[in-house]
Parts: sequence; C-alpha cells; structure tokens
Amino acid sequence: MDSSGEHLADFLTPEGPMSLDAHAAVVRKYRGSFDTNGDRGYGAFHPDTGRMLGEVCLLRRAGIDALEVGYWLRLDALGQGFATEMTSAMVKSAFELDKVKRVDLMCSPENERSAAVARRLGFSLEGRLRDRQLAPHLPRGDLLCFTLLASEYPQSPAYPLHLAAFDFLGRQTL
Ligand SMILES: CC(C)(COP(=O)(O)OP(=O)(O)OC[C@H]1O[C@@H](n2cnc3c(N)ncnc32)[C@H](O)[C@@H]1OP(=O)(O)O)[C@@H](O)C(=O)NCCC(=O)NCCS
Repeated sequence: MDSSGEHLADFLTPEGPMSLDAHAAVVRKYRGSFDTNGDRGYGAFHPDTGRMLGEVCLLRRAGIDALEVGYWLRLDALGQGFATEMTSAMVKSAFELDKVKRVDLMCSPENERSAAVARRLGFSLEGRLRDRQLAPHLPRGDLLCFTLLASEYPQSPAYPLHLAAFDFLGRQTL
C-alpha cells in the first residue's frame, strides 16, 4: 500500500501511510469478523512469488441475502486482470457458498477502472446514488451502483472460474 502512493490515496490512506500497528489492527478486525461470519476480507498473492497484489472483500452491508464486493490492487499490479479474477472468485463464492440472491458493487462515477471490472463480469448499472459515504475513511459523493443477480450469474464470466475454497478446518467447501 505504501508503494502505491496517490493511486490508493482516496481509497485507503486518507492520512498518509498507515503504521504497522494500524495495519495489524485492520487485519485483526477482519480476522474476527471472518470468524463470526461478518465481512470477509482476503489477501491476493502472486502464485509464483507470494507477493501481495491487493485485497478483495465481501461485505454484509448490502442487506439480507446479498453481499457487496470491494477490492484494490497495488499500483504495479494494474492492467493484468487480477481485479477481475479476484472479483470473480468473490462472486462465485457469494452465489455458490453463501447462496445470495444479489451481489452489489459500488464505485465513484470517476472510477472507470472499477466500473470496467463490474461491466466485464456482467453486472448491470442500477443507478447513480447521490451524496453517499459508505465508510468514514471514504470521500463523500455520488456512487454508481452495479448489481449481479443470482439468475444472471450463470451468464457471467465468473461462473466458469476454477475456484477452490476451504473452511478453517481445512475442509474443501468449493
Ligand atoms: C479498481 C482496480 C482494482 C481495477 O484494476 P484494473 O487493473 O483496472 O482491473 P483488472 O486487474 O481486472 O485489469 C483489467 C485490465 O487488464 C487487462 N487484462 C489482461 N488480462 C486479463 C484477464 N485475463 N482478464 C481480465 N482483464 C485482463 C484488461 O484488458 C484490462 O486492461 P485495460 O486496463 O487496458 O483496460 C484498480 O484501479 C484499483 O486498485 N483502484 C484503486 C482502488 C479502488 O478504486 N478500488 C475499487 C473501489 S470501488
């Protein structure tokens, strides 16, 4: 994150680079909420080198029988399809493991790269929500709301993705 500079400034680091302690607190919070079946955050790592590429998450704030997907990539990992692949994995697990009826994806109208991820995976633009702020560290403003419904999922490029998922006992769930 620190090496990505301005690229992540609006999204993750409003007050400059985060300290190691602040990072550890975020990771522990996600670990706790993962265990209690709340929001789920995942790291994305290069399979050959183990280098961290970014994060992807499934958030509960979308309401009943729905999840919202969010993601970021480090600056030098852009443009290679990683965000599309990470988001596909979340879409697949949301529909096949969580059995949700809808996955939401929100981004600012200026965030063309994020909107392109949504469109690439077959999400529909539901509308432009006005004057929203989804979390304290995010800027306030309009948001584009994209959704993919369970009935549309089999037509999404996420559907044929090969994905293995495991629970905390190491049992394969997908
Ligand atoms: C949003 C974000 C993750 C999108 O990253 P991205 O690199 O544009 O998206 P992808 O990793 O899916 O890569 C897509 C690009 O790789 C190319 N690509 C190459 N191989 C690909 C493949 N197998 N599958 C899909 N795309 C592929 C695509 O053609 C596309 O190219 P383009 O950038 O020239 O159009 C990134 O801009 C980011 O981290 N932004 C800051 C944080 C943020 O805004 N998060 C989202 C908040 S809503």
